[in-house]
Amino acid sequence: MTRQAWMRLRRGVLSLAIGWATMFGAAAQTPLERGRYLVETIAACGNRHTPKGPNGPLPGKALAGNWVVEDVPPFRAVAPNITPDRTTGIGGWTDVQIARAIREGIRPDGSVIGPPMPIGLYRGLADDDLAAMVAYLRSVPAVAQVAEKSTYRIPLPTAYGPPVGQVAAPSRSDAVAYGAYLAGPVAHCIECHTPMFEGGRRDTTKVGAGGQAFAGPWGSAVAANITSSRTSGLGAWTDAEIERAIRTGVSRDGRRLHPPMAFAQYRDISAADMMALIAYLRSLPPVER
Ligand code: HEC
Repeated sequence: MTRQAWMRLRRGVLSLAIGWATMFGAAAQTPLERGRYLVETIAACGNRHTPKGPNGPLPGKALAGNWVVEDVPPFRAVAPNITPDRTTGIGGWTDVQIARAIREGIRPDGSVIGPPMPIGLYRGLADDDLAAMVAYLRSVPAVAQVAEKSTYRIPLPTAYGPPVGQVAAPSRSDAVAYGAYLAGPVAHCIECHTPMFEGGRRDTTKVGAGGQAFAGPWGSAVAANITSSRTSGLGAWTDAEIERAIRTGVSRDGRRLHPPMAFAQYRDISAADMMALIAYLRSLPPVER
């Protein structure tokens, strides 16, 4: 092939790629942008890893941990520092080690990460999304902050399952399947919104039925029923009402919802992801509670 023909071909491929990228916004995202979106918005890592005061997130401490996430005897879980600080954060870990900690719940020293990290769900994170999250975590400002260690007076599992291997995300053209991926492995909505048996196993016959109580400075908030039940779930709500609750924390009747749901982050969930989430919630069999 002549050099000229090669250049023509290259120009053609380039403009095709740019055309595609403009038409399908998501495809234009770099892994770093994708990682930022996941960590800061729909996966809402900062909701648990960024220390907060009475006026919200502490300035300059994004993802720096040392914040008591749950103090519910038999355990006291303190969020660790997940900024790239080399001594107090995860800056000394390799990409593979960070990915394994998130998706398999195993630290580089072999110890197992306890609740409330929803490892059982994170095991379903797609390879691309996991790699994007790791890339973004590496890029945030390092904050030197020692975090108190969590204490568990319950036995932690030795592992959450066999090594995960490879995971692909479901196709975005299947809204219900993609919404299930978002509500499970990515945003872990169903971690909070599904009742648990004693011992912490989810009751998979009642996905989305709610009922778990979350205590905090706000008192106690009970996770709502988000199944399609018309009487106790979201079955009678419009899409706009569901979207408003998720994005702004205002329920259908105007009541302001309590934490720990990550309204500050969910506000910026993309329109396409919101559509998929709602399609999935509508697909949940009605459960009365
Ligand atoms: C960390 C736990 C947690 C996570 C994660 C979570 N929620 Fe919630 N959610 C709650 C709690 C608790 C309430 C009830 C708050 C209250 O009543 O003040 C709630 C309320 C809601 C409501 C309002 C229902 C009503 O009747 O007012 C909707 C809708 C909802 N959640 C959907 C979602 C979706 C979708 C996701 C994932 C994108 C999600 N939640 C993630 C804990 C959680």
